[in-house]
Amino acid sequence: MKKSSSLVTGALSLCIAFPAMAADVPPPWAFGFQTPPPETPAPAAAPAPAQAPDPTLYGVPGAKEKYTRVQIGNRFGPADWFPGDHPVMPDVVAHGRQPDVIACSLCHYPNGKGRPENAAVVGLPEAYFIAQLNHFRADERKTSDSRKTNTGLMATIAKGMTEDEMKAAAAYFGSMKFTPWIKVVETDTVPKTTTSVGMFLPIAGADKEPIGQRIIEVPEDVEAVERLRNPRVGFIAYVPRGSLKKGEALVLTGGGKSPLPCGACHGPDLKGMLNIPAIAGRSPSYMVRQMFDIKTGHRTGPGTELMKPILANLTDEDMLAIAAYTSSLKP
Ligand code: HEC
Ligand code: HEC
Repeated sequence: MKKSSSLVTGALSLCIAFPAMAADVPPPWAFGFQTPPPETPAPAAAPAPAQAPDPTLYGVPGAKEKYTRVQIGNRFGPADWFPGDHPVMPDVVAHGRQPDVIACSLCHYPNGKGRPENAAVVGLPEAYFIAQLNHFRADERKTSDSRKTNTGLMATIAKGMTEDEMKAAAAYFGSMKFTPWIKVVETDTVPKTTTSVGMFLPIAGADKEPIGQRIIEVPEDVEAVERLRNPRVGFIAYVPRGSLKKGEALVLTGGGKSPLPCGACHGPDLKGMLNIPAIAGRSPSYMVRQMFDIKTGHRTGPGTELMKPILANLTDEDMLAIAAYTSSLKP
């Protein structure tokens, strides 16, 4: 009796750990989580007890200034390690505006290259950029995974912005070129990771584990990215073996699943066209998140209507392969 009941609980817990992914269950890795969302949302965690601020001044190689961790993470004026790497930031990008408009440079970095849990906003067409801020304002850009709270934060930021601030931010980020930021590596195994606020971090000294049907995007240097927000240090995206070739076929021909190849609208080299954004060289997690959100109606607006027929017949695995391939291209 005892034996059979433990067998049953064993099987049950396996089901809980690896439930069959229904079509509308967001792929956890693309949203910054290890496991699918629970059916009943967990109560919000109690805020971490306040700690005395760390007085240490930190530096990064090649930067003149040093900053404390409080300064590095200041929502209304974060560290700008390399002012010479970018044009002068408009005030909204450098400082934001209290209480709701958090400085864009905190999350998207002064160079706009961003991190997997937010977005690369560098080089986006200005009209597209402003349209997206308006979609966030109108609650037309939501997330399929309610645990991903920074999508809501982005909406709060957009709602707090003036039209002039939107134009200034769009012109600033649009004036810079997106340069290589993500290294794509095909592999069978990946370092074991934890997640911190939507970003995967390799566990130091831990074993590897099978990659499965996931893309695991990690900082090239955890300390430099996670703690110091060094905007010169990019990311490595581990992708399953074979996904680049599979993705390439889907992107270039539609693979019999999409009525048009991606280049028909995103430009022959996928670097964007007219007011349609580039998809070459961008974070694969971001790509799959957006495709999933558009497909499931969490992200809407006139532009997304063009994307819907493209996505209608694509499985999660197809989208993974597509993102593996597009992120491996030069931005
Ligand atoms: C707290 C972090 C955070 C800050 C600060 C922030 N953003 Fe974002 N932003 C995000 C996240 C997260 C997303 C993507 C949401 C998703 O994937 O669901 C995003 C997406 C965007 C996009 C959409 C990009 C695309 O390709 O469609 C634009 C445009 C944007 N942000 C502009 C801004 C501007 C302008 C500011 C400053 C006023 C700003 N953001 C500040 C987190 C942030
Ligand atoms: C018929 C035209 C068309 C085709 C073909 C097309 N797209 Fe798009 N795509 C768009 C438009 C328009 C948008 C902007 C949506 C908006 O305004 O919100 C977009 C947005 C996106 C986004 C979100 C980008 C961002 O910055 O948030 C991704 C990701 C994307 N497309 C991927 C693809 C992929 C991958 C393919 C090929 C499998 C593809 N698209 C084919 C028209 C198209």
